[in-house]
Amino acid sequence: PQPNTTISSFTPVADVPRRLFGSFVEQLGRGVYGGIYEPTHPTADEFGFRTDVLDLVKELGVTCVRYPGGNIVSNYRWEDGTGPREQRPVRRELAWHQTETNEVGIDDFYHWSKKAGTEIMLAVNMGTRGLQEALDELEYVNGAPGTTIADRRVANGIPEPMNIAMWCIGNEMDGPWQVGHMTPEEYASRVEKVAHAMKLAESGLELVACGSSSAQMPTFGTWEKTVLTRAYEYLSFVSAHAYYHDHDHESHKPEGMREFLASSEDMKQFIATVASCADYAREANHGSKDIAISFDEWGVWYQDIWQKQEAEWKAAETEGLHTEPWPKAPHLLEDVYTASDAVVEGSLMITLLKHCDRVRSASRAQLVNVIAPIMAEDNGPAWRQTIFYPFAEAANHAHGVAYAPAIDGPTFHTETYGDVQALEAVVTWDEETREGLILAVNRDPDAAHELSVDVSGLPGVDATRFAVTHAEMLHDDDPYRRNSAEKPDAVVPQVLNVSVDGAVASYVLPEISWSAVRFT
Ligand code: AHR
Repeated sequence: PQPNTTISSFTPVADVPRRLFGSFVEQLGRGVYGGIYEPTHPTADEFGFRTDVLDLVKELGVTCVRYPGGNIVSNYRWEDGTGPREQRPVRRELAWHQTETNEVGIDDFYHWSKKAGTEIMLAVNMGTRGLQEALDELEYVNGAPGTTIADRRVANGIPEPMNIAMWCIGNEMDGPWQVGHMTPEEYASRVEKVAHAMKLAESGLELVACGSSSAQMPTFGTWEKTVLTRAYEYLSFVSAHAYYHDHDHESHKPEGMREFLASSEDMKQFIATVASCADYAREANHGSKDIAISFDEWGVWYQDIWQKQEAEWKAAETEGLHTEPWPKAPHLLEDVYTASDAVVEGSLMITLLKHCDRVRSASRAQLVNVIAPIMAEDNGPAWRQTIFYPFAEAANHAHGVAYAPAIDGPTFHTETYGDVQALEAVVTWDEETREGLILAVNRDPDAAHELSVDVSGLPGVDATRFAVTHAEMLHDDDPYRRNSAEKPDAVVPQVLNVSVDGAVASYVLPEISWSAVRFT
């Protein structure tokens, strides 16, 4: 290893919001049908949900789930997924060119979330629909019994209001691929009216306006300023979406890997820009509240594989009328993740924690089968992808306050971001329960680095009582190794050797590795 990097000074960021460990379920491919839901599976429960998948969702530690989309929401009719299953309509779904059977809808997903122990963040259709349908859905979901729409829910077997607080007003409305996409001005006007009316119905709602679909969108920045300034009064959150992948993953060329390992630099810049747009909106409105960021789609997604799939799918269709039946639950976006993907996802989680003063909610996209940490084989077992582990560790053990360390260590060079720190880290510490967590990655593709973390400066840490309670590392000599249904444990965390001196924990992180050290 190269010379030791010592971390000993920390800036408190904010309390760690539980919603930071959210995920996302969309009726896309086998995300729902064949994912969370498979009524013929041996582990299926009374609603048709797979309990083996539910067990993994609980193990992952997911706190909040965004539903039902994603791109599908922009052509979705929420009421199709309510009432007796055998009477529900079957529809063509335009976003992913699939057949939506509506076997799972909000009623069912509510039951699922109770079992999973997760909050729901609900998205409403702003593509083919608008204000009235959003209000109807709100009344169905949260209304007290006694009105016609709320009583439909009661008749459908859910007497209590679902009490869903977070609502996304549309999805990626800036994207030309989105059904009913809009200009910044059109969406700003729409969101202001919808949010105003929804708040008249329930003043305590936490509303999320669509931000940009990525930092590369041509309207990035203008979109946020326009939308947030217009609807400032009614909004709690603005969304941010970012996906990353190694552009040389097929050829295994080192250049692509190097840039990919530094992906969190893009996420940091993205957060800073959106936060400054939200601050601009606050000043323009002479307001005092800060609109927070809901990073409600993030993760590694091999979008070039999807683009190829999409091109083949389009080529296979003849020009003109498409009269073939559209597939049900097709295998779409089923990325299988590598060891290096897990390290990058670990670094993205560290970035979210280091900015949790502004990012108060996040959803890793997605949860099962579709760009997901959990895979569910048709009528077979469910298994954990490599990316499962960094998420689960943070979701289950990052408590209390997040502290951003000052790191001045070795760097490596990237074309896109210049010289970047090899080591990235965050520390969380719960003074009350005395539970601490050090999350660190070595993003350097070429060298191991030794890291020493001195936590004696954290409030209430007593060097004489300091102890490491658990330490693990995810690294593989082959950064492209993956798990599979046949070899689900090919890449799993290993024991990390830590030496302790007072309140200083020291360890060596090999190239391209993620680590977690729990302490008390
Ligand atoms: O998560 C996959 C897709 O990515 C979502 O449907 C959409 O919102 C985004 O473009």
